Amino acid sequence: MSNDTANTPPKGPIGRFLALPADSVGKTLTVAITLCLVASMVVSAAAVALRPLQEKNALKDKQLNILQVAGVYDPAQDVAEAFAAFEPQVLELATGAFTDAFDATTFDDRAAADNPETSVALTDDPAGIGRQTKFVTVYLLRDDAGAIDKVILPIHGYGLWSTLYGFIALEENGNDIFGLQFYEHAETPGLGAEVDNPRWKALWNGKRLADDTGALQISVTKAVPAAGADYHVDALAGATLTTVGVHNLVNFWMGEAGYAPFLANLKAGAL
Ligand SMILES: Cc1cc2nc3c(=O)[nH]c(=O)nc-3n(C[C@H](O)[C@H](O)[C@H](O)COP(=O)(O)O)c2cc1C
Repeated sequence: MSNDTANTPPKGPIGRFLALPADSVGKTLTVAITLCLVASMVVSAAAVALRPLQEKNALKDKQLNILQVAGVYDPAQDVAEAFAAFEPQVLELATGAFTDAFDATTFDDRAAADNPETSVALTDDPAGIGRQTKFVTVYLLRDDAGAIDKVILPIHGYGLWSTLYGFIALEENGNDIFGLQFYEHAETPGLGAEVDNPRWKALWNGKRLADDTGALQISVTKAVPAAGADYHVDALAGATLTTVGVHNLVNFWMGEAGYAPFLANLKAGAL
């Protein structure tokens, strides 16, 4: 009876598959492909499920950076709550005026830079960004009387290995720098990534963009240029290429192709 059962050929495709020798090519390939499919489905499901959490964390990190660069970050306070003090505005770079054409709370500068309708391809591109958005979300911090106290402007440009994304905080006069910091880059730790070193970031506080004639003088170089130390931030040691990138991107964004029209409006009290 038991012999009969042992000699009965396996029934159905699964039975026949299970009856194959463990080292058969068909069984090995089927097991490997099934494992790959199951693993890729698990990874895809995790990626989809975690996306909202990632987006929430990215938003929180951006808000945290804005609080920090404006010097109002308090670890005891909830980031979103503290961020409510800022007034986001979508700025049209060419005119330097705010626009209501987009919702400032949801406008995506990076997506706008990729969209041919809301961006331009740069021919003169010292910041190494390829395309520049025509519209940017800026953040205003007002004093108790409602006057602009600080403006927080997004900046980005290429370093040595990566595009550095960050913010520059300017005083209400549109010329004095309160702070600068990057929230995303892939420069080398200990070299280009020293842009994140609090001691280097602190060098930006109190520096000026343009001289009294209105000429843009801000520099990030090894030696102090003729304009003087008021307009100079020391280069990063051993990271000349990242330094050049930061110098170029700051000059690009603070110049005519960047925020100059907005800063002129700010200085004129036209906002
Ligand atoms: C593995 C490796 C990573 C580097 N990363 C950076 C970097 O992130 N930023 C940078 O400016 N230079 C970096 N460098 C150094 C540059 O190649 C170059 O030597 C340096 O920018 C010159 O700066 P210095 O004139 O101040 O020495 C790196 C070099 C190596 C070998």
